[in-house]
Amino acid sequence: MKFSISLGNAENASADGLVFFAFEGDPQKFVVLDRKTGGLVAQAFKKKEFSGKKDETLFLRTPFSKILLVGLGKKAAFDCDKMRNSCANAFSALKTLDCKTIAFSCPDNTPVQEFGRVCAEACVLGDYAFEKYKTPDKDEKKKIVDGVSIFVPSDAVGAKKVVDEAALICACANYGRDLDNEPANKATPTFLAEQAKLLAKTHKLKARVLEKKELQKLGLNAFLSVSAGSVQPPKLIILEWNPANASDTIIVVGKGITFDSGGISLKQSHDLDKMKFDKSGACAVLGIMKAASELRLPLHVVGVIAATENLPSGSASKPGDLVKAYSGKTIEILNTDAEGRLALADAIAYAEKQYRPSAIIDVATLTGACIIALGDVASGLLSNNDELAERLKNAGDYSGERVWRLPLWEEYAEKIKSDFADLKNTGDGTAGTITASMFLKNFVGENTPWAHIDIAGTAWVTKQKGPYNLGATGVGVRLVTHALKKWRRLSKIVAKTTG
Ligand code: BES
Ligand code: MN
Ligand code: ZN
Repeated sequence: MKFSISLGNAENASADGLVFFAFEGDPQKFVVLDRKTGGLVAQAFKKKEFSGKKDETLFLRTPFSKILLVGLGKKAAFDCDKMRNSCANAFSALKTLDCKTIAFSCPDNTPVQEFGRVCAEACVLGDYAFEKYKTPDKDEKKKIVDGVSIFVPSDAVGAKKVVDEAALICACANYGRDLDNEPANKATPTFLAEQAKLLAKTHKLKARVLEKKELQKLGLNAFLSVSAGSVQPPKLIILEWNPANASDTIIVVGKGITFDSGGISLKQSHDLDKMKFDKSGACAVLGIMKAASELRLPLHVVGVIAATENLPSGSASKPGDLVKAYSGKTIEILNTDAEGRLALADAIAYAEKQYRPSAIIDVATLTGACIIALGDVASGLLSNNDELAERLKNAGDYSGERVWRLPLWEEYAEKIKSDFADLKNTGDGTAGTITASMFLKNFVGENTPWAHIDIAGTAWVTKQKGPYNLGATGVGVRLVTHALKKWRRLSKIVAKTTG
């Protein structure tokens, strides 16, 4: 899909589909359009068939183009998230009508670059659907949008830059979604490792995959304990983007459980198919690494993926098992379904020791409790560093992949103290997202800025939502990429934080 930016208004555009936005009670003067449609637009306003109410649409079929007027509601402050959704709805409606080219008109008095950005995001994210396993209907031609033109009143050059960048980053999110949507019989830890190597080849990344034998030798026993029940070998996948002008080293860690059955602490069968998405964090990391390379970020970005299945079998870990993690801390595994923190603990500790990073960010579908707390509206954010947390909060607001912070107060640490080991892998059933993070915090250096992003509620959708069709959302790719794009060294003063 190609994007072009033009100065002016889409009223004269030659695209198959034209999109115009109108605010409620502030009818724009679609003069040319009205003339072209023989007065249909003015009539619709007059007869109150269309008045610009939120999500209201008016469709006009004309000999030259299909026209869609979209209501944006009351003209309060410009809201990027709402605008993105409106663009996505318009895109999908016109794609369904088989428009091959679509032109969007920036609404009056709207920031041009912001509009261009969210419009491009809506088109690229909205264009994605996971359909590769469906046999195409012979009689039905595949609908493809191959060109989008965005009409802006000014600053076409500035708009072009943000549009191209937004399209690039969203394509990286779609790449992550495509891997995440793959089912567990295809997307094994070995598959993820192969995909990472493939990405490394095309994107000038360094790839290293630590195999089971090495992991055993190194003593990543917490990670290994998760894979004990599976015939699929675990993989610790490491990708590096390290340009000559790199300043800080940032480690991005992803939870890559290619299927989470719960293990011996078996989950219920309802919705168990969704546990193929327990690798969403890993897929986000792959998307972030692709973006880091394509944007040529002036940073040393290290992507680390702890990939394994979590299955029950005669060789699986059992509740009560005691293991010694890579860091040397001992863990009592009370619930084999709290496996993500075990895998991440070792991945984080190992990567930190190897790379001495300026910051660590992990992305994981870690706790059902996060869905209870925040639903599908925001991801959980937990951090030992206020500055890092603030940056991720801002990147979340900017990208629409919002995060909301939860505390890491010392009192919560009590809940994961074990009678027989240094830590246990579950708390008392309260504050589950926080106790999981308190567990991870034990495996991060005292003075290393670290943020954990719990994407349990945001990693996939079960019905179309905003720009997302069914399945993986790629959440984390746009969020973390935007944070990295704006990266500057964190201040040395370690503020007294909620950690
Ligand atoms: N992968 C799950 C968390 C999850 C659940 C993500 C539902 C998305 C949707 C994780 O491994 C898990 O099972 N967590 C347990 C922890 C509990 C046993 C302490 C949970 O949240 O129930
Ligand atoms: Mn689990
Ligand atoms: Zn899990």
